[in-house]
Amino acid sequence: MALCGKVALITGGAQGIGRAVAETLLENKAKVALVDLNQCVGEQCKKELDQKYNEGNCIFIKCDVTDRRKLEEAFQSTVEKFGRLDIVINNAGINNEKNWEKTIEVNLTSVIKGTYLALEHMSREYGKEGGVIINVSSMAAFLHSPHQPVYTATKHGVIGFSRAMADASEQGDYGVRINALCPAFVDTPLLQTVEHEDNMGKFVKFKDHFKQSMDKYGVLKPSLIAEGMMQLITDSSLNGAVMKITCSKGIHFHTYEPLSA
Ligand SMILES: NC(=O)c1ccc[n+]([C@@H]2O[C@H](COP(=O)([O-])OP(=O)(O)OC[C@H]3O[C@@H](n4cnc5c(N)ncnc54)[C@H](O)[C@@H]3O)[C@@H](O)[C@H]2O)c1
Repeated sequence: MALCGKVALITGGAQGIGRAVAETLLENKAKVALVDLNQCVGEQCKKELDQKYNEGNCIFIKCDVTDRRKLEEAFQSTVEKFGRLDIVINNAGINNEKNWEKTIEVNLTSVIKGTYLALEHMSREYGKEGGVIINVSSMAAFLHSPHQPVYTATKHGVIGFSRAMADASEQGDYGVRINALCPAFVDTPLLQTVEHEDNMGKFVKFKDHFKQSMDKYGVLKPSLIAEGMMQLITDSSLNGAVMKITCSKGIHFHTYEPLSA
């Protein structure tokens, strides 16, 4: 897929990984809708991206992805503004073991909603031209750590859902590729949340273990995650792919054994 003129919607696009991906898309002449809860950071991000990549290529839409109606409106206004939709990145995520129900809502339920809405706007089933969806999971889906049990469960869920939907898309001829991206630790504000009882609840006592893991495995730059994301977006052979990004191996893919009963 060539990116010039394509339209992307990124949830959680105001900072961290989402913002890095937005920048790379804009560099490649795509149009971008930043969909994020945080109005202040979102507006500042749009202002800075306008200065760098010219006005008219990026919009900010304040939206809590857990609010179904607002998320529908975010998709609608992106299509109204730019005339089409080609790329959807379900990236918004939180790390909250105290309010773990919210973590499931944001990290998994909203990724499912975002995928279904993306299909309504891109799938041949709905008379559209096709596109690509990337759902952001985590290396947490391949490890297990004492400090993030529910976060880990949501990231497992994102992979299972994305792979099943990739098969549905292929068999149903949706014309939409659906892939999952699993970064290891990335240098974003999300990483700071592991220090706080408000986020971690009783698991905050394992924060030293978490920091030791960060020292052991290293912390990635958001720009490398954006590079991996571009590969998932542009390589038309990738559907149902699970990309891992780690300090030791860089960008690579998880391989699964063939199905057996
Ligand atoms: N940082 C890491 O180490 C890491 C590693 C693996 C995976 N991830 C995943 O990458 C994704 C992005 O994380 P990040 O590190 O950039 O985090 P971040 O906290 O820097 O950015 C997340 C963005 O999502 C937004 N957001 C949160 N809840 C929202 C909601 N309900 N509605 C709309 N927007 C909402 C926030 O306002 C923020 O702008 C997440 O899914 C996260 O789980 C992060």
